[in-house]
Amino acid sequence: MNEQVTKISARKDEHLRICLEEDVTSGIPTGFDQVHLQVSTLPEINFDSIDLSSTVLGKKLDAPILISSMTGGSGKTKHFNKLLAQAANEFNIAMGVGSQRAALVHEGLEETFSIARKEAPNALLFANIGVAQLNEGFGVTECQRAVDMLEADALIIHLNSLQEVLQPEGNHDFTQLLTKIEKMTRSLHVPVIAKEVGCGIDPQTARSLVNAGVRGIDVAGVGGTSWAAVEMYRQTDPSRKALCQTYVGWGIPTVMALQGIEGLPEDILKISSGGLQNGLDVAKSIALGADLAGFARKFIIAANAGYKTLAESIELILLELKVAMFLSGAGDLKSLRSKLEKEREDEY
Ligand SMILES: Cc1cc2nc3c(=O)[nH]c(=O)nc-3n(C[C@H](O)[C@H](O)[C@H](O)COP(=O)(O)O)c2cc1C
Repeated sequence: MNEQVTKISARKDEHLRICLEEDVTSGIPTGFDQVHLQVSTLPEINFDSIDLSSTVLGKKLDAPILISSMTGGSGKTKHFNKLLAQAANEFNIAMGVGSQRAALVHEGLEETFSIARKEAPNALLFANIGVAQLNEGFGVTECQRAVDMLEADALIIHLNSLQEVLQPEGNHDFTQLLTKIEKMTRSLHVPVIAKEVGCGIDPQTARSLVNAGVRGIDVAGVGGTSWAAVEMYRQTDPSRKALCQTYVGWGIPTVMALQGIEGLPEDILKISSGGLQNGLDVAKSIALGADLAGFARKFIIAANAGYKTLAESIELILLELKVAMFLSGAGDLKSLRSKLEKEREDEY
């Protein structure tokens, strides 16, 4: 492995360690506490018949849950992708892998990602690449390779301006990226999804991305993992630490970001993520117009405790979602969409 790859892999392991060991949450509310589902005191549905299934990008899912993009790119993280993919397979839910940059630079790391497809042959899987890499010489060939590596159903391009600018070694050149994203949407054989990493996507950018051919938006808003906090734990220089600290809460809270993309066309895949805690947050996300609800750090912490803990965590989320649907009288995801408490919604 060359020095560049060793550095990328070491950084991946460091990020993972920090996310597992430190409190890296933003401390800012997601906004879900202010969102209320309609209460149906006599729901007139059978709890045991509640249907959580939906079809996303042509694949039928048993529940609208996404294991958000996190790992791969080092020996250690292969183990995590294996566990997460086993869960995606067992529960027939969607999964994203972490940035595939390391494997695009060094083929020997490909199996740390392709393990996901091996363990989840039929799952809805998302490849992942950082937008900044499009300004480092990664083009259509590299992005298509990332997709092919795990026979992915879509490519997520993550937008992480805060993270890149806080990293002394980060890529600070974000010029001309919309044009490059547009090139990907026109050239790749799969849909492109744009995703933040915990700061939210603003409505104007979301519209520009859709105009550039992006088929999905994952808002990844503020309220959960803060990459400023993660980077803060990596820095040793006091000024760099202080800089990171200043931006721990930067961005758009998840609920506000979701409301900001409400008006996008129906066929644009809308993903709620960033600080989701439970199945009630999932239910509220669906009522706010999301098609999928993603969890990142919660699942990696569970996976770190072993597959059983991860599976139990997902089972609980599904149960919580079903209870929310029962109590608001929604027998399926489509009817859950009309269950937002309107008056309180207007408070926003
Ligand atoms: C350990 C870890 C690694 C991550 N790596 C990536 C990545 O490579 N690509 C990406 O798009 N997002 C990455 N993320 C961001 C998550 O996908 C997600 O957007 C963010 O953590 C907010 O969700 P959460 O509050 O549920 O953790 C990572 C998150 C964690 C916790």
